Amino acid sequence: MQDKINEIEQSIDKAVQDVKSSKTLQEIKMKFLGKTGTISALMKNMRDVPADERPKMGKLLNALREWCENKFDELENRIKNLELKKKYADEKIDVTLPGKKPEDGAIHPNTLVKRELISIFAGMGFEVFEGPEIENDYYNFTALNTPSDHPARDMQDTFYITEDLLLRTQTSAGQVRVMENKKPPIKILSPGKVYRSDDDATHSPMFTQMEGLVVDKGITLCDLKGMLDEFAKKIFGENIKTRLRPSYFPFTEPSVEVDVSCFECGGKGCRLCKGTGWIEVLGAGIVNRRVLEGCGIDPDIYSGFAFGMGVERIAMLKYGINNMKLLFEGDVRFLKQFKA
Ligand code: DAH
Repeated sequence: MQDKINEIEQSIDKAVQDVKSSKTLQEIKMKFLGKTGTISALMKNMRDVPADERPKMGKLLNALREWCENKFDELENRIKNLELKKKYADEKIDVTLPGKKPEDGAIHPNTLVKRELISIFAGMGFEVFEGPEIENDYYNFTALNTPSDHPARDMQDTFYITEDLLLRTQTSAGQVRVMENKKPPIKILSPGKVYRSDDDATHSPMFTQMEGLVVDKGITLCDLKGMLDEFAKKIFGENIKTRLRPSYFPFTEPSVEVDVSCFECGGKGCRLCKGTGWIEVLGAGIVNRRVLEGCGIDPDIYSGFAFGMGVERIAMLKYGINNMKLLFEGDVRFLKQFKA
C-alpha cells in the first residue's frame, strides 16, 4: 500500500510541475481528490480490506489526502497570486498618455433660428402655444374657412390618417384651438412641425412652421406691417425693409405675401433675390371674419392679423443654405459649421 501511495504522490508532483493557470490546477485536483478521483476510489476500496488492517490503512489514506489537500492549497495560492499580479500589470494605466477629447455638439441651425424667432416675438409680448401634430380635418381646414369642397385644399398635399384625422399641414390649425379657449386680447406664437406630400430641394415632407396670431379691438394691416418691419430688422439686419404683396389664403382677408429687401445685395438685384431685390419670407393677412365667428369671437368688435413662416426657409436664407435636405440629414460636417 505504501508503494501505491508513493506512486500517487509522485504522479501528483509530476502533474502539477508545469501548471500555470488555476483552471488547469483545478482539473488536476479533481482527478485526484474529486468524487470519482484516484484517492476517493482508494477510500471506497477500504470495504474490501480485512478488518484488522483497516485502521492502519485508514491512517495512511487520511495522511495521503491531507498531504494532497495541503499541496493543492499551497499551489492554488501561489498561482492565484501570480495571476493577480499579471492582471494588475495588464490593467496598468499610463496616466501620461494624452487624453481623448470628447466631441462637443452644436445646436442645429433650425433650433437656432426657432429660438431666435421665439425670442424676437416674445420681446414683443407673444406667448408660445403648441398645438397637436395629428389634427382633425376641422382644425386644419374647415375652421380655417376651407370646407371639404374648397379649391384651396389643393394648395397643400395632405397626409391623411383616417378620413377625419391627418398630419397637420399648417400651424394655422393651432389658431383655432387658441381662439376657442381664450378671449381677446390674444397674442400667440405657435411653432411646430407640419407635414405635406412634397419633396424637392426647397420642400420636405416634414418641416417647421412658426405661426403668429394677434386678436384685439382695432387691429389693422398697419399693425401687421409695423410688427413685420420690426421683426425683419431683428432677424436680417437694421437696413431691411418689408413690402406686402396681395395674395390669397382662405383664412385671411385681405391676404398678403411678405417680402424683405434682399440682405445680400441691399435691393439692387442678385442671384439670391433672382434679380428682383426682394425675397419672399412669409404669408400673412387680416383674420377672416368667418374664422373669428366660428371661434365665437364677434368680428364687429374684434379684428386680428395672422402670419405663418417656414423656419427652414428662414434658416436657409439667413445662413446661405442652398438645399433643404442638409437641414434634415444630420451630417456632422454641415452641422459643425454652426458651432457657436
Ligand atoms: N398657413 C399658411 C401656409 O402654410 C401660411 C399662412 C399664411 C399662415 C397666412 C397665416 C396667414 O397665419 O395669415 O401656407
